[in-house]
Amino acid sequence: MLGIFKWISKIGEIMSDDEIVKSEVKIYHPSEDIIKLANVKEYEETYKRSITDPEGFWGEQAETLSWYKKWDKVLDDSKKPFFKWFVGGKTNIVHNAIDRHLTTATRNKLAFIWEGEPGDTRTFSYHALNREVSKMANIVKSMGIRKGDIVTIYMPQIPELIFAMLACAKIGAAHSVVYAGFSSKALKDRIEDAKSKLLITADGGWRRGKIVDLKNIVNDALEDSPTIEKSIVVKRTCQDVDMVTERDFWYHELEKEPFASKPCQTEVMDAEDMLFILYTSGTTGRPKGVLHTHGGYSLYTSTVHRMVFDIKDEDRWWCLADPGWITGHSFIVYAPLINGTTTMLYEGAPTYPNPDRIWEMVDKYGVNVFYTSPTAVRGFMRFGDSWVKQHDLSTLRLLGSVGEPINPAAWEWYYNVVGGARCPIMDTWWQTETGGFMISPYPITPLKPGSATRPLFGIAADVIREDGTSTDPDEEGILVIKAPWPGMARTIMGDDARYKDVYWSDYEKQGWYKAGDSARKDADGYIWVIARLDDVLKVSGYRLGTAEVESALVSHEKVAESAVIGLPHELRGNAIHAFCILAEGNTASSDLEKEIKEHVRDELGPIAVPEKINFVNTLPKTRSGKIMRRVLKAKALGQDPGDLSTIED
Ligand code: PRX
Repeated sequence: MLGIFKWISKIGEIMSDDEIVKSEVKIYHPSEDIIKLANVKEYEETYKRSITDPEGFWGEQAETLSWYKKWDKVLDDSKKPFFKWFVGGKTNIVHNAIDRHLTTATRNKLAFIWEGEPGDTRTFSYHALNREVSKMANIVKSMGIRKGDIVTIYMPQIPELIFAMLACAKIGAAHSVVYAGFSSKALKDRIEDAKSKLLITADGGWRRGKIVDLKNIVNDALEDSPTIEKSIVVKRTCQDVDMVTERDFWYHELEKEPFASKPCQTEVMDAEDMLFILYTSGTTGRPKGVLHTHGGYSLYTSTVHRMVFDIKDEDRWWCLADPGWITGHSFIVYAPLINGTTTMLYEGAPTYPNPDRIWEMVDKYGVNVFYTSPTAVRGFMRFGDSWVKQHDLSTLRLLGSVGEPINPAAWEWYYNVVGGARCPIMDTWWQTETGGFMISPYPITPLKPGSATRPLFGIAADVIREDGTSTDPDEEGILVIKAPWPGMARTIMGDDARYKDVYWSDYEKQGWYKAGDSARKDADGYIWVIARLDDVLKVSGYRLGTAEVESALVSHEKVAESAVIGLPHELRGNAIHAFCILAEGNTASSDLEKEIKEHVRDELGPIAVPEKINFVNTLPKTRSGKIMRRVLKAKALGQDPGDLSTIED
């Protein structure tokens, strides 16, 4: 199939640090085969209509879902920015992700394929998935959970994680999944913020051949938890764990109770009822519980998934992410199931026991569409082409990328080596807050490596100057979304004011959503996302606040003050570099650096550990005491620190 993609080259522009360097941007056009298959055949006209008549567009799309009762109004914008979608509509995401498939041929199709790190596998048809979810739902109910409660889930990537999420949704409880790489302290904070009464967890999970002892972490987190009354523990790794009587219950024992296998009714939910909260990092220290709803989120995630990844009935879809992050919520669990696709979940590390673990699975299961992050791509690339080429990847049709800008070298490798120069790469820009993809190609879109291309239907994305005017081609600016969309977060859990302030206050008059990224738009209208504008770091595609890491650092008794920046890293995109002022009487040493790193690991988890800690005597600050991280960054990169007139010392 080589040569099926033709490319033309033209002089384009790519950014390199502060200067714009003229260089060649290759444009990759889709093949005839891809165009023939495409669910979306045309962009310009449909895009225009979706923006001029969003209610008409989304109302039409919503007909693809099943509703207990249709909506009275598509969009209520009377209380900006607290938009409501499908007002008066009644549904439940599980009604669309499972129930409606049970009366069609999809019932006997594989809903998901799971592979554990040690190589054990389990598969579930939609029929079987319904049985498992109903069982988990009955058990969750038996723990006293009712509609409107929030259940915290802290689990390895095993099937029961998916059952737990769907079980909560089914009975109208909201889930709050906490990524299993987070520490006990981070788990505890998130439980407290959500005021969860129930925790669903496991004894452990497998990672790089070792047991991650989740139950120990949970026991620490729950030691003096004011809200958790009970916890359900799934047996996965089978080591001895401490169970607390009357609080902790083994799932495999509860499963045997006669009530567990009874049918379970799916709760009728209002379209605007809370489906889940998911914590993500922002500018200040406290993580934000981003809230999504049953109606708009169901519609938005399933629509963009079907259109961007051209989902077909016979497809096997694999999103290599962790369900503990939004990518996993939307594109391992909800969108693929709503679309009746076969989705996959893998428990362990992508390059364990060998660097071809993922390609072996693509080959084994005949995966058609594969979606992952640039950091994972760079991780595979480092081991060379031969690990990929040992496997038959001819089933692949489309590839996807998410989490950070993909550097052209990684794009080219992914395209040529993994995709055999035949699979277009859908570089999807989106956020926890947006629910689903916002700026992304469709398969018919000509691609420019490193650009997420253009806004999807219904998404009024633009790049603007601070004064709100649109930027000129290639001028760097602020990425905003100028109209609401159904998948948008509705608020931050328990903090409407913060929601309004963080996302909507800068352009309140215009009613625009500020995404927090800088970007530029080229002459073809292609958007190139550059970086975060705020104090948010993207490390291996994970989102962390500088303030979170700094507060973990200063909670070490020997650290008086700290500042954290992200510096470019070949594999991880960015790596955390910390600058610490030690408390009186302490001396810098490599042992102390190790000790502080260990402390951050305990406080936040392995992803937050700084690559390097620099011990310093002062930190650059403004006269009002704000740390000037840009100065530290410029210095570390050997660049001009810019305007220093506001610096104190
Ligand atoms: O900076 C952008 C970056 O990830 C941020 C959102 O992070 P999070 O909420 O954790 O969600 C990640 C998965 C959706 C964005 O503000 N980002 C995400 N995708 C891309 C990206 N940057 C450039 N290109 C992308 N495709």
